[in-house]
Amino acid sequence: MEDIQTASTPKNITVCNSREEGSLKVAELIANEIKAKQEKGENIVLGLATGNTPKDVYKELIRMHKEEGLSFKNVISFNLDEYHPLAPEHHLSYHRFMDEQLFNHVDINRENINIPTGICKVDDVEEHCNSYEAKIESLGGIDLQLLGIGRNGHIGFNEPGSEANSKTRKIELHEVTRGDASNEFEGLEHVPLHAITMGVETITKAKKIVLMAFGKGKAEIMKQAISEPMNSKVPASYLQTHRSIDYILDKEAATLLSQTH
Ligand code: PGA
Repeated sequence: MEDIQTASTPKNITVCNSREEGSLKVAELIANEIKAKQEKGENIVLGLATGNTPKDVYKELIRMHKEEGLSFKNVISFNLDEYHPLAPEHHLSYHRFMDEQLFNHVDINRENINIPTGICKVDDVEEHCNSYEAKIESLGGIDLQLLGIGRNGHIGFNEPGSEANSKTRKIELHEVTRGDASNEFEGLEHVPLHAITMGVETITKAKKIVLMAFGKGKAEIMKQAISEPMNSKVPASYLQTHRSIDYILDKEAATLLSQTH
């Protein structure tokens, strides 16, 4: 593992040998944060992500729960996003994803799980988004936010064009995002047109952020997210000035960084 630090962009970038190594590192970091709060008798507010990227992190957290007794009783979770409209029972909903990949296998209290709805009526969306935002605030904000990154630079479903001060809202999905989802939805026409997502500001208000990127398909966007001036075309670029962010990459996702630094 090597740390790449640059003078112009002084950030925490860890390049791991593999996705597995990166995932174990992130799982350990999350477990340590959970345990540190437990020792103080406090809850922890975790911001959670879906997609392929965090799957091995969740697998390791489940292993830690089963084999090492890591408890999730003090965890309050907020997921980044959900397709809209999409029923929670749909096999590709993020509600289902989180149940299958993590929640069904650990001891988290169901009432502590928060995921944006995929089913509220269009007229009720704004109120839902405002109360999602307010609930995070009322709990003192997100302690640790886990992020992947889309090939178009989205974080959550903050698609290109999302501004730094954006909050939880309904958004139209970008063509790259829908294209990337078209295989699992078995056709572009079945991919929802919209989603509800935490905003860029909702994310950047988190006390700590860990962004993971694995595979060569993420190399170009990681270069842009880290090295180019912050701009709404690449929403992940807004993370550059966050006071506590760790970028965890595998070698492939870091290919273009190594060339430029
Ligand atoms: P992926 O998606 O983890 O499936 O690559 C990441 C994202 O879109 O945020």
